[in-house]
Amino acid sequence: MRGATEGINLVAQSWGRRYLEPGDEILVTHLEHHANIVPWQMLCEQQGARLKYIPVDKHGDLVLDQLDELLTPRTRILAVTHVSNALGTVNPVRDIIRRAHARGVPVLVDGAQALQHFRVDVQELDCDFYAFSGHKMFGPTGIGVLYGKASVLEPLLIPLPSNPDQGLALSSALLVGLIEEGCKILAVVFLAAYDPDSTESHQRYEKVLNNIKEVKSRDGIIVSVGNANDIDLMEVV
Ligand SMILES: Cc1ncc(COP(=O)(O)O)c(C=O)c1O
Repeated sequence: MRGATEGINLVAQSWGRRYLEPGDEILVTHLEHHANIVPWQMLCEQQGARLKYIPVDKHGDLVLDQLDELLTPRTRILAVTHVSNALGTVNPVRDIIRRAHARGVPVLVDGAQALQHFRVDVQELDCDFYAFSGHKMFGPTGIGVLYGKASVLEPLLIPLPSNPDQGLALSSALLVGLIEEGCKILAVVFLAAYDPDSTESHQRYEKVLNNIKEVKSRDGIIVSVGNANDIDLMEVV
């Protein structure tokens, strides 16, 4: 990713366009940076969905008393910033995620203002997506990360047929397509969905990894892959 904005747009235009139908709702908050509003406004226009907002009180805190009411059977995703860029408010995202999940709603967290201040454990938070930018955490501009839970990405990226070889061919084609479209991080996170303890899974992982390296040497894309056992996000620069 080139930053949090691109990560959020990617979720809206891939996950969102796949799952949203007319009349569905997206819940954001009045504390969002426009990077976490505009992609959802565009998605609403495209899919005929409706954008709703969690309000903010006079202290700059989200009015979470209204959360259960705002989460309706039509809510498809909740997108919330971890830390407000305008007020510095640290939102209780763990609690928000727990309450959204209790209603079957996945959560995207915009972490652009969080990681430079405190440690974030995406698995402990249990968020479905987490987006952030390199330049906000003393890194270079133009790079960033979109974390996605394997269970959320898998249905999007793995049309696995019963024949493993066919599955690999399809997956590889998909990876090349994603990389060519600039959706690099999704392609690499996809790899982390494989279980390294399973021999079959690991063999496939290695093959797909080699395929990515070929794409890299062909197209000059730099791919940096972390340890899938530690954390299921990987970085592409
Ligand atoms: C809370 C928040 N989200 C998203 C962004 C967008 O980040 P980027 O421009 O790196 O994509 C910013 C940038 O200031 C931000 O403060």
